[in-house]
Amino acid sequence: MLSREENDYLTRVGRGTPAGELLRRYWHPVAVAGELTTEQPIKAVRILGENLVVFRDTAGKYGLIAERCPHRSASLAYGRVDAEGIRCAYHGWKFDHSGRCLQQPAEPDDSTFKDRVRQPAYPVEKLAGLLWAYLGPQPAPLLPRWDVLVREDGKRWTVIESMIDCNWLQPMENSVDPSHLYWLHGDSAHLMGHVPDYGETHEFIRFEYGIWKQRTTPGKKPGDPPQRDEHPLLFPTTLRHVAKYKGGFRHNLQIRVPVDDTHTRVFRVSFVPSETDRSPEDVDPPFQYSQLKGPDGRFDLSTVPAQDAMAWETQGGIADRSLENLGVGDKGVIFLRKLLKEQIDIVRNGGEPMGVIRDPQKNRIIELDVINERIGLFRTTDKKVA
Ligand code: FES
Ligand SMILES: [Fe+2]
Repeated sequence: MLSREENDYLTRVGRGTPAGELLRRYWHPVAVAGELTTEQPIKAVRILGENLVVFRDTAGKYGLIAERCPHRSASLAYGRVDAEGIRCAYHGWKFDHSGRCLQQPAEPDDSTFKDRVRQPAYPVEKLAGLLWAYLGPQPAPLLPRWDVLVREDGKRWTVIESMIDCNWLQPMENSVDPSHLYWLHGDSAHLMGHVPDYGETHEFIRFEYGIWKQRTTPGKKPGDPPQRDEHPLLFPTTLRHVAKYKGGFRHNLQIRVPVDDTHTRVFRVSFVPSETDRSPEDVDPPFQYSQLKGPDGRFDLSTVPAQDAMAWETQGGIADRSLENLGVGDKGVIFLRKLLKEQIDIVRNGGEPMGVIRDPQKNRIIELDVINERIGLFRTTDKKVA
C-alpha cells in the first residue's frame, strides 16, 4: 500500500517529476522506421508527456523535435522535409535536427531573429527497425543492444500494440507478478504447456540490468526434477522472456513506452532462431499493428497480450495503490517498487541509475540467458546470472 504522494513519486512521467527524470535516463522507442515513408516522412509521437514529431529528411537522416511550432504554434506534423530538416506548413519556418531555426521566410534577409529561436530537439537512433528517443541530459548513454534486437541467427519481427489507457508502472508490476500466470492466462497457458501447480516458488534477484526472475515448479510426479523458468525485467520498462513457437522458441522483448501519465504503448520485438530464415542487423524487420480491443471497445481476451492489457488498464489510469492489499504472493511487486524508489533517489542525488550503458565493449550484444524448462528450453552453459 502506498500513500498518494508515494504513488505519484513512482508513477508520474512529466519533465521535472521524480520518475519522469529517471525514465529520461533511458532510450525508448517512439516509432518503427517503416512508418516513415517518402509520402509520409513525418509522424507525431507522444512520449513522457511531451508532444514531438519524428521525421526522416530527404537525405535519410532521422530527427526528433517538439511538435508545436515556436512561431505561432501550428503542428510540425504537417510540415515538409528537405535535406536539411523540417519546415512548418504555416509560414515556412525551417528547423534542423538540433532544433536550430534555419529560415524565417517573412523576416528581413539581415534579421538575426532566427538565431534567437530554438526548438526542443532530442537524439534519435535506429536499431532493429525501431526509432529510439533519448530525452535526458547529455551525454546520452549507449542504446542497449539486447540480444533480441541484434542477433542474426534467425528471424525478427515487431508488433506495435494499440494504446493502453494506463500508467507504465502497471505493466511493469505485472512483469514481477508470476502468480497471475495460471489465472489470467489460464486457457492459453494450457496451450503453452503450462500446468497449474501451487507448490511453486518465486525468486527475484537484482542484477546489472534489472530484476532476474526465477520460477521453480515442482516436478509433475514424485521424483521428477523441478522445472525452472528464468527471465529478466530489464529496468525500467522492458520484459524479456521466451515462449513456445511452432516447435521452437520465440524470444521476446516487450518494451512498455510511457506515453504520458495514463497511457502506455507496447512494442513487441520477437526473434526466432532459424537456420534458413535470417534477419541481418542492417535490414529493418517487418512490423504489424495489433488491436487489443474489439469494435465494442472491450478487450478481446483470446490473446495473452489482451489478457494482460485488460488487467493493467482496469486497475485505473494510475492505479490507486492506497486501496490495495498486498500478500506474500506480491513480493515481486514490492521488490520492484523498492528498486524504483532507490533508483529515482539516485538520479535526484545526481547519480547514474542502474543499467545505463556507456562502455561500447559491453554493448556489442547483451545476451540474456533466458530459460523455460516447462516449454523445453534448458540452459546450455554453466552461465549463471548475478
Ligand atoms: S506557425 Fe509555424 S511558421 Fe508560423
Ligand atoms: Fe501476463
